[in-house]
Amino acid sequence: MFPFRGVFETGRANRATKLFMKQDHILIIGAGGQIGAVLTEALREVYPPDQVIAADLRDLGPQNGPTEILDALDGAALEGLVKKWRVTQIYHLAAILSATGEKDPLRAWEINMRSLFNVLEVSRQRQLAKVYFPSSIAVFGREASHNSTPQYEVLIPETVYGISKVAGENWANYYYRRYGLDVRSLRYPGIVGHQSMPGGGTTDYAVDIYHYAVQHKMYECFLSAHTRLPMLYMPDAIRATLKLMEAPANLLSVRTSYNLAGMSFTPEDVTASIRKIIPSFKVTYKPDFRQAIADSWPASIDDSAARSDWGWQPQYDLDAMTKDMLQHLAVQYQVKVE
Ligand code: NAD
Ligand code: SER
Repeated sequence: MFPFRGVFETGRANRATKLFMKQDHILIIGAGGQIGAVLTEALREVYPPDQVIAADLRDLGPQNGPTEILDALDGAALEGLVKKWRVTQIYHLAAILSATGEKDPLRAWEINMRSLFNVLEVSRQRQLAKVYFPSSIAVFGREASHNSTPQYEVLIPETVYGISKVAGENWANYYYRRYGLDVRSLRYPGIVGHQSMPGGGTTDYAVDIYHYAVQHKMYECFLSAHTRLPMLYMPDAIRATLKLMEAPANLLSVRTSYNLAGMSFTPEDVTASIRKIIPSFKVTYKPDFRQAIADSWPASIDDSAARSDWGWQPQYDLDAMTKDMLQHLAVQYQVKVE
């Protein structure tokens, strides 16, 4: 279903699958979320599905590989799973995102940080081969350059989510430098995809808007028409993740988290892009508390370190993403869009 098997076939003769042994296992924590659901399927395309374990707080239902219910705040339960499956790599995706985090900041801090410490500690103690921990554009605040925000920039985030990601990046770097744990990380922009729904972020409008458009409904946007934010289409986000995780360690110069970019657009831009296919689509604007969060984030990101270190190159621009989103959602909702 996802074209990820070929991601690594770049002269190194499918290094990823060759180096992955029968006894190796990957654990994905937060596998039921917007990114986790798609990443799990992609990893099961690249690696044997029965060696990719999908874990989440909630029951994930039947899948083509093993699933587990796990509260990542429970360090003993996590260690139990790592032992049971002889886990060699963890993708730690579970987190409270920016908008939800502002409703209960201390709970967001507790969940984001304690789950990360549990992952880092079990990985250090059991000498796991690799750990993946996503960061976010939320690490930046309004003191940072607004356009083409560089890799190394002042980090004064204005959300508890952003603070937890800055701290998380630094702990990732600490575990790498102090213990040699191979933790890798990307600062994802807002991720847009048709396969799953977003879970409480400030960029969620960019997914919701397509669901409304395809159903020929009017959309009320919670950000203003001109709010420009960095965004990335899901297949690009998954390719970037797989590519970073399989890059030779000696190529990685950034051990906090890599800036990652795909495109930047405003709600007005995405509306115009949708109207090229659905001319009657209408959007109204009613900014809420998420506007202040968006205003503190960059409009665009400089990801030249990711490009030069491990060959990052996005494939989708806004119109290509719109076409693909609408095609897939039309099938999902059994409607015609053109
Ligand atoms: P999501 O909210 O859609 O999914 C998070 C998943 O984690 C959910 O399925 C939830 O049930 C699970 N979870 C929450 N608490 C848990 C716990 N204690 N134990 C086990 N599972 C738990 O999030 P997402 O959008 O898929 O994001 C995944 C990661 O990527 C997060 O770390 C997020 O900060 C990061 N990220 C996402 C975006 C984006 O646009 N989606 C952008 C930047 C960074
Ligand atoms: N999409 C995420 C959010 O809005 C960015 O990390 O919270």
